[in-house]
Amino acid sequence: MKEYGPETFGELKADLYDDLYEAPMRVETADSVRTLAELAAGGRVLEFAIGTGRVALPLAATGLEVHGIEASDKMVAKLKAKPGGDAIPVTVGDMAKATVKGPFDLVYLVFNTIFNLTTQSAQVRCFQNAARHMGERGLFVVETVVPELDGYFEGQRMRGSWVTMDEARFEISIHDRAAQTLSFQRIVISEGKTRMLPHFCRYVWPSELDLMARIAGLELRERWAWWDKSPFTNTSKSHISIYGHAARETGP
Ligand SMILES: C[S@@+](CC[C@H](N)C(=O)[O-])C[C@H]1O[C@@H](n2cnc3c(N)ncnc32)[C@H](O)[C@@H]1O
Repeated sequence: MKEYGPETFGELKADLYDDLYEAPMRVETADSVRTLAELAAGGRVLEFAIGTGRVALPLAATGLEVHGIEASDKMVAKLKAKPGGDAIPVTVGDMAKATVKGPFDLVYLVFNTIFNLTTQSAQVRCFQNAARHMGERGLFVVETVVPELDGYFEGQRMRGSWVTMDEARFEISIHDRAAQTLSFQRIVISEGKTRMLPHFCRYVWPSELDLMARIAGLELRERWAWWDKSPFTNTSKSHISIYGHAARETGP
């Protein structure tokens, strides 16, 4: 059986990624760039899992110095081929352990990508790695959905998305409640061929992210529902969480 490693997502999706997300998410991307630029306040910025530069390129275009860490060579090649891509230094490696010369005023990890780390310990190491890269007043911004587990029955879910005379597209996923993992296969079957697109992730509730941050010596400063800074509530479907270094405890 093939291993699903940090680079697998990008190696499988690099060719499709911009068509699927770059143009369709233009409005969300612009919102995120505006708020990230404000949080960076002119300082140095590091994106974990920079991908094809959907966010990093427009952020760099605001005049900020932006660096990236990315596991997939293919995603990096897509970024580098875009206008301005060459000006963004990217370290190929795992965001849970790769190092870039810091310090940075802002480290960010968006679009649910903390879930791409498939174990709790890798996610904790990612927070620790962010903390190591942050300057004294540096911030770590994490954007992700609040986990949504509707439609699972006895730990599995199957959803069709497309059926024609000669093609069917569907997705099957298995939920492990104890490990908080979802294992997906997106399958396209057409005359004489089958294409499979696997995806493995570990979902995390906001409260568990806050504990990971504490293990890494960070503390939650702000939590918004979206980039417009709307308040996070118990019905929010996503959150933007902002962490800074925890104040040292003093006293006896
Ligand atoms: C959903 S995409 C997000 C890309 C980009 N940040 C964006 O918002 O468009 C996830 C990215 O994470 C990268 N990735 C997954 N696991 C990684 C890891 N452990 N270290 C670094 N990059 C990783 C993938 O290769 C892919 O480029």
